Order: sequence, then structure tokens, then C-alpha cells
Amino acid sequence: MKNITVIGSGTMGNGIAHTFAQHGFNVSLVDISTEALDKALQTITRNLDRQVSKGILTGEQKHATLGRIRTFTETGPGVSDAQLVVEAATENTNLKLDIFAQLDKLAPSDAILASNTSSISITKIAARTGRPEKVIGMHFMNPVPVMKLVEVIRGYATTDETTARVMELAAALGKSPVEVNDYPGFVANRILMPMINEAIYSLHEGVAGVEEIDTVMRLGMAHPMGPLQLADFIGLDVCLAILRVLQEGFGNPKYAPCPLLVNMVEAGKQGAKTGEGFYTYT
Ligand code: CAA
Repeated sequence: MKNITVIGSGTMGNGIAHTFAQHGFNVSLVDISTEALDKALQTITRNLDRQVSKGILTGEQKHATLGRIRTFTETGPGVSDAQLVVEAATENTNLKLDIFAQLDKLAPSDAILASNTSSISITKIAARTGRPEKVIGMHFMNPVPVMKLVEVIRGYATTDETTARVMELAAALGKSPVEVNDYPGFVANRILMPMINEAIYSLHEGVAGVEEIDTVMRLGMAHPMGPLQLADFIGLDVCLAILRVLQEGFGNPKYAPCPLLVNMVEAGKQGAKTGEGFYTYT
């Protein structure tokens, strides 16, 4: 595989485009506005500069990486030569279902269609296409150029061949892919989100303050970020959406989002991206 299309140029989409291009793939990055695409290219350039300053890449490799990324505001031309499409749009079920129905019409019939969804059912997404055997989850972690894991999610109809090709591709990016089955939250978020929710409950119930809770987990459990800082980093709206998928998918009250999380999201406090969550950002 050589030609990869990434749908959506937000935090995850630009990180995925960056990583594929860095490893020699031709990347078509698709978003609805040129403003979003310009912003994504600026972010990729900034993150490549970090890698150059750390000696991970040379200046030449940085330019070659940028040279492998083309941008498109229309899906049709963006996917015309794709061998793999990775969708990284907003975490909204109906939006993703519509995108996959469209991709199925526009992408070459032998292309694999992957979703970077963090919790939406791959089986449900695949059912919107005429090629469910070629639909799979390819769940990258933020920041994509740094984090080693790719959670590879097999939907009900995903074949061994599709899975093997995506596992190989993730390994070619220097990542460690892990194969999991399609149940709510897969593995990463089924374990991560209840921990974050419990940290929010600990704050809500006055067990300890924000910094104290994060310090316990950073210094006591060697997590690089405490759960509240991580929630801000992921986005509180995203955490809430994933908890709702778990709650609905398992029908179990243990996944009910903490009321404090619900209130913060309703108040527009979505974490680092809005300048305020459990911490404030300038
Ligand atoms: N692109 C390229 N390099 C980057 C980068 C980016 N976007 N962001 C950070 N880096 C690099 C830095 O250059 C630095 O490199 P060295 O190790 O070679 O020095 C390294 O990453 C560390 O960066 P910083 O020194 O700036 O900051 P840090 O040491 O605090 O690490 C972090 C930052 C990597 C984000 C670290 O705090 C961390 O691992 N946090 C936890 C991240 C995590 O859990 N991610 C998963 C979230 S869940 C998810 O994504 C999926 C979901 O479904 C919700």
C-alpha cells in the first residue's frame, strides 16, 4: 500500500496524516474547508519541527514528509486513488455513518475503509457500506506521532485478510498494533474512561482536589498525565460521548457519566481546546 487518504484534519486526522507521510506513504488529507486544512498543515509543520529539534528527523526528511501530503476539500478527488481510507471525523455516529456511505461510493472498490473512532461500533459503520469485510477500526492514540499503540478493531464481518493488512500497515508506521473485537469502547476506552470518570467523581465528592488526584496517579501509578489532565487533553466532550456509548452499549449504570462532567460540557468547558476544563490553558 502506498496511497492513504485521511478524512478530517483535526487533532487526530493531522497526526495520522503526519505519521503516514513520515513513513513514506502518499497522503491525501480531506476536510471541508481550506482554513481547516491550512491549520492542519501548520500543526504538522510544528510537530515535524519538534522531531527535527529532537534529532528524530532531519530537515530534509521534514520537507519530504510535507511534500507527500496533498490536501482536498472534496472527498471524490481525495479518495480517487486510495488503497486505504482512514476516517478521523468528529466522534458523532450519524456523521460517521454518512461518511462511510459516501466513501463506499467514491473510493476504489478494493480500498480498505478504516475508522479512527474511539468507541462507535465498527459493525454498525460497516453495515452502511457494500464492503463490510473491508471495514475495520484503526484507533490511533493522541499525540499520534508519539504514541506506540494502534488498536485494530475487527467488526463482525471484517475478514482475516483485511485485519492482516492493517496490522502490517500499523507496524510499518513503527507502531505496535493490537487486535481487538468490536464491543463498546473496545479495550482502550472501556478501561480508560471508567478511570477518568472515577477521578471526576472523586473531585465531585470532595475526596481531593484536581492537582491532588492527578498527583496520586502520576506519582503513585507512573501515569505520564493524571486522569483529569488527560481528560482535558482528550476533550471533556469526547470523554462524555464515549461514556454514553459504554452506558448505552452495556446497559450498566456503572458507566453513567459523573454529573460534574455533564455540567462542565454543557457549560462549554471542554478542556484544553476551549481554554478551560479541570485546568485553565492560555
Ligand atoms: N508530535 C510529535 N512529537 C510530539 C508531539 C506531537 N504532537 N507531542 C509531543 N511530542 C514529543 C516531544 O517532542 C517529546 O519527545 P522526546 O520524548 O523525544 O523528548 C515527547 O513527545 C514528549 O513531549 P513533551 O516533552 O512536550 O511533553 P511530555 O513529556 O509531557 O509528553 C505526552 C507529552 C507524550 C503527551 C505525555 O504527556 C503523554 O504520554 N501523555 C499521555 C497521552 C495519552 O495517554 N494519550 C492517549 C489518550 S487517549 C486517546 O488518544 C484515544 C481515545 O480514544 C480517547
